[in-house]
Amino acid sequence: MLSGSLFSLCLLALVAHSHAGLSWGKCPSAKDAVKTFEPTKYVGFWYQLEATSQVWQFGGKCPTANYTLEDTGRVHVKNSMKVFGKEVAQEGYAELVGEPGEAKLNVVFEVPLFGHREASYFVVDTDYENFSVVYSCSSIGPMKAEFGYILGRKPTLDESLKEKVDAAVARSGLRRGAFQKNAQKC
Ligand SMILES: *[C@@H]1O[C@H](CO)[C@@H](O)[C@H](O)[C@H]1NC(C)=O
Ligand SMILES: *[C@@H]1O[C@H](CO)[C@@H](O)[C@H](O)[C@H]1NC(C)=O
Repeated sequence: MLSGSLFSLCLLALVAHSHAGLSWGKCPSAKDAVKTFEPTKYVGFWYQLEATSQVWQFGGKCPTANYTLEDTGRVHVKNSMKVFGKEVAQEGYAELVGEPGEAKLNVVFEVPLFGHREASYFVVDTDYENFSVVYSCSSIGPMKAEFGYILGRKPTLDESLKEKVDAAVARSGLRRGAFQKNAQKC
């Protein structure tokens, strides 16, 4: 089994290699996020339409997310993708961590072998019914890896949402050009 620090080094190398947003410093908590967030409207099934480069989905296709409310108030997270045509899923949970009403969550995954993995999950903008723009950040020792996701309720993003999505990405501080489309054809 890999030790934590060796794993971090490997992750660092992988993340650097994938040109993801790796930089020095802590993950920011003062980022733009929806201020009147309604988790009950947000849960359900989302297609991951675009994302900045990321190691977790290496070799994977058609990533999706299914969020459900747990009795505890936590949100159950199930991320799925197809690897060589087979569905591979990872499950975890998310908890609200911001000021009341703020769409700032912390997502926790218990990954076999690699152990505990945590990331912030800030909803920068969503209309609940069509799109969501998410800023996410993971700490790796003295560094942070920043990611962005554009989620949609349908497998393609309606052209009419382009302006809203672009504006949200700009507010997140992520580069729009860093996003890559995931063809949702599996
Ligand atoms: C999402 O998860 C819920 C609860 O487990 C399940 O009932 C539903 O079928 C899932 N949706 C999809 C599209 O997989
Ligand atoms: C989602 O998109 C549909 C189709 O464009 C639109 O009718 C609906 O109003 C949108 N929902 C919200 C909450 O904006």
